[in-house]
Amino acid sequence: MARRRIIAGNWKMNMTPSQAVELVNTLKDLVVNDAVDVVYCVPAIDIVPVVEAVKGSNVAVGAENMYIEDKGAFTGEISAPMLVDAGVKYVIIGHSERRDYFKEDDAFLNAKVKKAFEAGLTPILCCGESLEQRESGVTMDWIRLQIKSDLVGVTADQVKSMVIAYEPIWAIGTGKTATSDQAQEVCKGIRDLIAEIYDTDTAEAVRIQYGGSMNASNAAELLSKPDIDGGLIGGASLKADFGQIVNA
Ligand code: PGA
Repeated sequence: MARRRIIAGNWKMNMTPSQAVELVNTLKDLVVNDAVDVVYCVPAIDIVPVVEAVKGSNVAVGAENMYIEDKGAFTGEISAPMLVDAGVKYVIIGHSERRDYFKEDDAFLNAKVKKAFEAGLTPILCCGESLEQRESGVTMDWIRLQIKSDLVGVTADQVKSMVIAYEPIWAIGTGKTATSDQAQEVCKGIRDLIAEIYDTDTAEAVRIQYGGSMNASNAAELLSKPDIDGGLIGGASLKADFGQIVNA
């Protein structure tokens, strides 16, 4: 069973609403590819104009974050039903920047994953080790702990439909990409873990992305690996390179 590729841009805290629409228009013809799911995960304030701007194209829109409650007194937060109503299909959960700067822990992220499914969003669940963890040889132990904790109470059918992004923290925004063998090793480890927790059908269905300084020149090599089904792209998603990655 072939898994459909998924290339997602993570714009992070970049692009004002007007710049966002300009970027969508610049990339429009470059990201056309019927064989690949293409997603722009954009800042909350850009969601409405970007959903409008991608209409009629092959691009889906994702959020970079969401809160675990549907509504109420949570000043500054945005709920899953709000995202769905605005036309959002995907949501990044547990990016290392959220884990690190905003102290989001695995129990909170587990609640977010469950809420995303309840609302009808597809989670892109991120995991990844620090350089110190890699150098001390605990990479896979750490990733297994993250994934196991974040998926507590999540069903096999839900996991089949979701996306997991392996993003070594030392490779994010550093220009230092994991080698394709390093990335493949961890992505396969994640798939093996899913088979262990659920079953082989679920493991074969779940899509696993690599993220961390993926760009137009290294994408093809990373995407040639059997357990890497796509990419989560930060810096390179803000320029024409993103089109080259989609078509790699
Ligand atoms: P990068 O970011 O491509 O700029 O390294 C990836 C990410 O953080 O998702």
